[in-house]
Parts: sequence; structure tokens; C-alpha cells
Amino acid sequence: MNVGALKLPPASLRLKLTLGYALVFILASVLGAVLIYLVASTQLTRSLDATLEETAAVALGNIEREAGALRFAAGLNVRSELALELLNARGQVTAQAGGHEHLTPGLPRPGFQTVEDWRVYSVPLEGGGWLRVMRPTDLLSGLLETLARVLVGAALLMIVLSCLGGYLLADRALKPIDQVALAAASIARRGAYRERVPVAPGGDELTRLSTTVNAMLGSLEGTIEQEKQFARMAAHELRTPLTTLAGRVELLLDRPRDGDAYRAGLLQLQERIGALRALSEGLLSLARTDAPPTLEPVELAGTVLAVAEDLRPEFRAAGKTLHLDVEEGWAQAEPEGVRQATVNLLQNALKYGGPQVTLRVRPGELSVADDGPGPAREDWPRLLRPLERGPGVQGLAGSGLGLAVVAALARRWGAELRPEWAQPGFTVTLHFPGVNG
Ligand SMILES: Nc1ncnc2c1ncn2[C@@H]1O[C@H](COP(=O)(O)OP(=O)(O)OP(=O)(O)O)[C@@H](O)[C@H]1O
Ligand SMILES: [Mg+2]
Repeated sequence: MNVGALKLPPASLRLKLTLGYALVFILASVLGAVLIYLVASTQLTRSLDATLEETAAVALGNIEREAGALRFAAGLNVRSELALELLNARGQVTAQAGGHEHLTPGLPRPGFQTVEDWRVYSVPLEGGGWLRVMRPTDLLSGLLETLARVLVGAALLMIVLSCLGGYLLADRALKPIDQVALAAASIARRGAYRERVPVAPGGDELTRLSTTVNAMLGSLEGTIEQEKQFARMAAHELRTPLTTLAGRVELLLDRPRDGDAYRAGLLQLQERIGALRALSEGLLSLARTDAPPTLEPVELAGTVLAVAEDLRPEFRAAGKTLHLDVEEGWAQAEPEGVRQATVNLLQNALKYGGPQVTLRVRPGELSVADDGPGPAREDWPRLLRPLERGPGVQGLAGSGLGLAVVAALARRWGAELRPEWAQPGFTVTLHFPGVNG
């Protein structure tokens, strides 16, 4: 595997994170700037209006009416940036004070108004006519323009800074992930499943990621070592009978013999070959238990009765009796597996048990009992492992795979394999899940 191909484009996630940060920041900055602008513009307009109102209040006390005509009293002092007008009921200007300005003609409306570049405050007078106070808005718009420029500049600066900061933050956060990815890629490339990736300090998500990757490597290492050990043992088990076989053939061929001697030799070879075949079939059964299970309801009684019928001649030949105590019972399992487990357990009872063997089926339960002593209790866990046999069975055919296959099948079905010792008698029971008892 090429490590270059495993390396992700280094900037992609960083870029996405940075753009994400920047987008959030741009939105926040624009919103903030608009808000500041609106608040400032409202406040400035309000203070301008307050000045107009105050001026109007002063001017109202300085209006004289002479022969029906309105005019300002001589003592009225008006600031130069303000313009004051008195209008008659028809909207014509009859008197002016302060700065002079001509607005579009028309009847004034009471209250505040913005007309062209002027802020206007109109007050209706008692007895007809209007007082109009005006002030140019150019100072206000100048201020707001400067504020807008400052806000845009500040927002741009913030966006640039946020992009930079976002990139640095993303880079810092992602660097340990890169390290884990690179270490994992290197382990994958070299097949070095005993190595581990560096654990990120800090007890955060990254620590969790690296410890999880390491836990995965640990469990992979366990499985690989187990497989290797099994392959070594299987090779060893196969080598012994093959060597014996080769020796026998050599012995048979070392000088000419008569027909009977050849026949006897060939019969011995046939027996050895049978044992070898049983061993390879056992290994194959065990290998098959690694495939993912497809469970289905299995009718136990019918399945085991067929097996019992097949094995009955072997029991008869050995002078043993096979009793059947079978009720109807169903289990979530695999039909072929149930058959295989029954064969293995019955063959063990036949080989190692006493003269009476009982095959029993109850709902969710399948057991084989024999009246022998059973294996030593302390040996039981070991005997469930492949290629393990009890002491003193060398003379009996077998390779130590039968119980290992039954145990592996039980694990596939979530069933429990339970041994029970009685005085005398030994029973092995398969308890299927989902049924009480
Ligand atoms: N019913 C039993 N009574 C006494 N000992 C038993 C019984 N069943 C199993 N054993 C012991 O457990 C060992 C392992 O059994 P297992 O079925 O795995 O292998 P095997 O019978 O020796 O060989 P194989 O089943 O591969 O032909 C046996 O060698 C035997 O010592
Ligand atoms: Mg066996």
C-alpha cells in the first residue's frame, strides 16, 4: 500500500474549518456594524430634534402679532446654523430669523420631518400660522458617514484576523489527528500490527480516538496471534500422521512381500488415511465457524433423531446402547451446525463414556449423557480449545477438535455449553437462548 495514497490533502479540513469560522465571524461583524450604525443614527437624530424643540420653545415666547401679521421679537437670538420662519395659514413665509433657506413650498406638517438636506420642526400657532425651525443635516450625515467608514474598516480587519486565527486554531486541533493517521498508515503499510499509535495527551476526544485505534490494533493482534498459533498446531498435528504414513509406506516397499502382507499394510494405511481425513474435516468445520451466522428456527427433535439413526450402527458395533428421550423443541440456530454438534457429542460419549448413552431434547435444550466418569473438571476449559485432548486417549482415534467445534457453534448461536458431573455419569448440555430453563 502506498502511504502517499493514504495521505489526505492536508489543507482540506483546515480550510473548511477556517471558512466556517470566517463565515460566522463575517455574519457577526456585519450584524454588529449595522446595529451600531442604526443606534448611532437614531441617537444623533434624537439629539438634533431636541435642539430644534428647545429653539422652538424659546422662539414661541418671542413671536409678536401686529395687525394680524406675525413677526419675531427684536431680542430673539438665533444660532447661525439654525433657520427660523413664521408662516401664515396659507403656508407663505411672513418672517425669518437665523440662516435663510428656501424649502419647497407647501403647507407644513406638525412635528419633525426631513426635507432635502434639512431637519424641520413645525409647530402650529394659536390663532393660525406656523413656526418652523430648521437645521441642516450635513453635520449628522458627515458623522454617520465617518462612523460607517470606521465600522467597515474594523469589520474587514476583524474578518482577516478571524481567518488567520481560525486557520491557526484548526491547524493546532488537527495536527494530532494527522499524527494518528500517519502512524496508522505506516502500521498498515508495514503490517506492523504489534505497534501502537501515539496516545494524544489531555483526556479529550483525540485521546479517545488514539486509544480506540490502539484497542482495535490490540484486538487485531490477539486474533492474528490466535490464528497463527492455530495454524502452527494444525501443521504439527498433520505432520505426525503424515510422517507415520510415509514410514509405513517405506517399510512396505523396502523388500518384496507376499499379497497378504501387502494387504495388511494397505489396511493399516487406510486406517491412517481415515484419521487424517477426520482431522482435515475437523479443521474445516472449525474454520467454517468463523463465517457470519445465519440463524433460523431449528426443530431439534427431527434433526437429532436423524443423527441418532446414522450413528446407531457404530453404537451397536461398540456394544453400547443409545437411549432417546426426545420432546418437541425449537431453537434459534443453524440446522447443519446442530447436526454437527450432536454428532461430535455422541461420538465423544461413544468413545469415552460407559455402555449407556442418552440423547435428550427439551425446548431450547439439547444434551448427551453417558455413564462414564467424564473428563477431569479442571481439564474442561482446556478441552474446549482446538487440538486439545484429555490424558490417556492416545490409543483412541481423534484429534481434539470435536468439543472445540461444539463450543465455537455455541458461541455463534449465543448458546451456553454446560458440563455436568454426576456419580457416576457425565452430561454435556447446549442451552439455546430465548427459552427459559
Ligand atoms: N463424554 C466424555 N467423557 C470423557 N471424556 C471426554 C468426553 N468428551 C470429551 N472428553 C475428553 O475431551 C477431549 C476433547 O474432546 P474432543 O471431542 O474435542 O476431541 P477428541 O474426541 O479427542 O477428538 P475428535 O473429536 O476431534 O475426534 C477428549 O480427548 C476426551 O479426553
Ligand atoms: Mg470428540
